Amino acid sequence: MARRKLALIGAGNIGGELAAQAARLELGDVYLFDIPDKVGVAQGKSLDLEQNGSILGYDVRVIGTSNWEDLVGTDVAIVTAGVPRKPGMTRDDLLGINLKIVRSIAENLKVQCPDAFIIVVSNPLDAMVHEMKKATGFPGAKVVGMAGILDSARFQLFLAREAGVAVKDVRAMVLGGHGDAMVPVLSYCTINGIPVRQLITQDRLEAIIARTRNSGAEVVKLMGSSAYYAPASAAVQMARSYLYDEKRLLPCAAYLNGEYGFHDIYMGVPVVIGASGVEKVVIIELDATEKAMLQQSGAAVRELIEASARL
Ligand code: APR
Repeated sequence: MARRKLALIGAGNIGGELAAQAARLELGDVYLFDIPDKVGVAQGKSLDLEQNGSILGYDVRVIGTSNWEDLVGTDVAIVTAGVPRKPGMTRDDLLGINLKIVRSIAENLKVQCPDAFIIVVSNPLDAMVHEMKKATGFPGAKVVGMAGILDSARFQLFLAREAGVAVKDVRAMVLGGHGDAMVPVLSYCTINGIPVRQLITQDRLEAIIARTRNSGAEVVKLMGSSAYYAPASAAVQMARSYLYDEKRLLPCAAYLNGEYGFHDIYMGVPVVIGASGVEKVVIIELDATEKAMLQQSGAAVRELIEASARL
């Protein structure tokens, strides 16, 4: 089998960490792409990572570039291009700037990487991934957004700390849009099979949900820019499931056309990712509160998509 090829569009904080993880896992050769003004950064990080391989023992090519033709034959493209938040900004404040960037990237991906599985990370996520699908014309199965794994990881961490248990024993899912109206699904949240409501009081659960919703902003406030280790790990988990046909069931921003009653929208839902991309949107039963939250979150995403269409 030929070596797999990953294109990381955006060689900033998340792009760099993605390259580091993808190289260590030897997912394939890594092309770290940025605009011509930043190609030195992309090339410098790439050289550093190839040298790192000679210490750690991995052996893949890591190549910094601003030339789209280098990306021909890409299996997976992960898009982090755009500007991140500064303290006090919401993800939605990035819409105007990042929309133009994502549109131009989509035009190039469509021509140079027509067979790629595209994972969008740029914010505001649900609007950016919708734009990517629209501008490439790719099927929904081949264009997906990273948010749910990250939001769920944050939720799981806070639940584990509260309960005083290992993080790996907590399973939780956050669905809906990647914004303030995201939907932590308490009815399926368990600590090694035990429903979380038996172990954590309602008051504390509400505080944890509020912290989860605000957790991206909490990081931005602390370090002046947005998170990158956990976002990169989440996107790598998705890429890996596609490349190795792992069929992981993961919360991701997926294209919905009828599922959960939504049409022509991207939202966080449980999906199965395998060799064909998003192979299945998994429909789960939600309680009345969760259903109402999902509707509210969907309305917020719809507003952003409509705002994008006007820009
Ligand atoms: N093509 C390729 N790269 C681009 C383009 C473009 N048209 N426009 C901007 N970039 C690059 C920037 O030059 C920069 O190197 O995207 C990179 C973004 O990196 P950072 O500023 O470090 O941002 P990062 O923290 O990686 O976040 C990227 O992901 O989670 C979201 O909100 C976050 O939208 C932000 C994105």
